[in-house]
Amino acid sequence: MKVFVSLLVLALVLCAETASNFPSYVTQCKRDENLNKCVIDNVYVIKNHFDKAIPKLYLPKFKPYIIPQFDIQTGQLMGSAKNVVLNNLDQFVLNDLKMDLDKNEFFVDVTFDRIDGECDYTLKGKLLLLQLNGGGKAQFFFNKVHAVLKMTGEDMVKGDEHYKSFNDLKLVLEIDGDSHINLEDIIPNNKEISDVTNKVINENIKEIVKDLIPYFADAMSQIVSNILKGVFNNYSLEKLFTYKCGLPGSISSRRMQVMNMNTLIVLVFVAGSCAAIKFPPFVTQCKRDANLNKCLIDNIDVLKKDHFTKPIPKLFLPQFSPFHIPRVDIQTSSLNITCLDLYLSHMDTVVVNELKMDLENVELFVDVLFEKLDGRCDYQMKGKLLVLELNGGGKGEFNLTKVRGLIKLKGDMITKGGEHFISYKQNELSLDMQGDSTVKLENIINNNKELSDATNKIVNENIKDFISEILPSIADTAEQIFLSIMNKLTQTYSIEQLFIQ
Ligand SMILES: *[C@@H]1O[C@H](CO)[C@@H](O)[C@H](O)[C@H]1NC(C)=O
Ligand SMILES: *[C@@H]1O[C@H](CO)[C@@H](O)[C@H](O)[C@H]1NC(C)=O
Ligand SMILES: *[C@@H]1O[C@H](CO)[C@@H](O)[C@H](O)[C@H]1NC(C)=O
Repeated sequence: MKVFVSLLVLALVLCAETASNFPSYVTQCKRDENLNKCVIDNVYVIKNHFDKAIPKLYLPKFKPYIIPQFDIQTGQLMGSAKNVVLNNLDQFVLNDLKMDLDKNEFFVDVTFDRIDGECDYTLKGKLLLLQLNGGGKAQFFFNKVHAVLKMTGEDMVKGDEHYKSFNDLKLVLEIDGDSHINLEDIIPNNKEISDVTNKVINENIKEIVKDLIPYFADAMSQIVSNILKGVFNNYSLEKLFTYKCGLPGSISSRRMQVMNMNTLIVLVFVAGSCAAIKFPPFVTQCKRDANLNKCLIDNIDVLKKDHFTKPIPKLFLPQFSPFHIPRVDIQTSSLNITCLDLYLSHMDTVVVNELKMDLENVELFVDVLFEKLDGRCDYQMKGKLLVLELNGGGKGEFNLTKVRGLIKLKGDMITKGGEHFISYKQNELSLDMQGDSTVKLENIINNNKELSDATNKIVNENIKDFISEILPSIADTAEQIFLSIMNKLTQTYSIEQLFIQ
């Protein structure tokens, strides 16, 4: 059973937190390619603390480990062991440990060098050819206890946090070395025959152990399962694991000192919830290093290629292709245009010329070029354009090429608990039309197709002027949209969650 225990431990270890919640000697593991190694390292550290319970991890004392009661019932034999004391549970080697949090698969292969202990037992029934009906103290040892544990889990959501529940746990036990059992008083009040019986039992110990091992394995599975529940029911994944969090460069040096090691993360947890953002698999979580900007640009390139046609709710990204804007109001000195249900297509032709995410100064600068941008909406227009008096409405469409956008955001860093959130406030977005454009505005002169066609011709002949008149209003709308998307993301997720330290 110790085995299970250890396993459990492993599991726990997965990622105990340092700071307030977790013992200081435990390293909170990051969810990255080093996760398994990190967990293994933790297991080896935690085993040095097996001589006490570790309440913060819901771990019992393992040295020794005490099982209050353990029953065996085979066809011919009924037995129970009480106050089972197991020693040496810290003498183990982890042969393998694999956690796949995405696939929900856990695998542990561990060998305990020697498990020994004692208990109060009763046995009744037939063992080998012996009729037994005794009880008393028992001592035992098992050498090279090899346990392989496989679990599958399920994701559960409670409130905002994610939990794992383990519903399928398979444990295979083997005893590869020697075993020995001594059952005092197995024949009541007859030491001599008891000794002989024990001799017979131990001559056949391999066989006996083989029969009993499924029971051991069951019992252990129960224990493992309880321990896992203790940890995984009480701690969300957000609390157990680090989701590649890190702190922005601007945090104070005092804090930095607290954090050397890999504890940035920890700090985060201390404060609260480094909620697991499960990034979509095609999104690379960027590191806060010299390549941050390039990493972000690469992400945009991936998104625009294959993922603009659906929203990505996790990241608060709307569908971009086509991009729907319910209403755009354009107001120039002489003209009011309302555009309802504007659909923009070819957003995926965007090229990011430059992107600078400055976390220290809380600034973001983006320079993009849309090779092509087509739009359609239901428009209403009233006012004066050039010398024309307009008062019409209907289907409107425009085809633009080489639309350049410059975006500058400036915000504040807000600290909640130990985490840092950005709230962008100032926002500048300018648009520049660098290529050819055409527009088509049906019914621009109400109920007069001929005049409408002529007017469209004039508008298109003066398209640059027309566009530059209406562009500032469009930029205003784009600005609001961009700001709101960014703020949803940065006010919901902390810097620690969004970026890898
Ligand atoms: C927390 O762990 C303890 C100990 O294993 C368990 O009894 C309790 O039910 C757990 N709490 C929740 C909410 O599951
Ligand atoms: C445009 O709308 C504004 C606000 O509704 C109004 O004050 C203004 O007179 C309108 N301009 C024209 C040309 O209709
Ligand atoms: C815009 O482009 C589409 C397809 O490329 C074309 O069908 C449409 O007529 C164009 N509209 C204008 C106003 O140029």
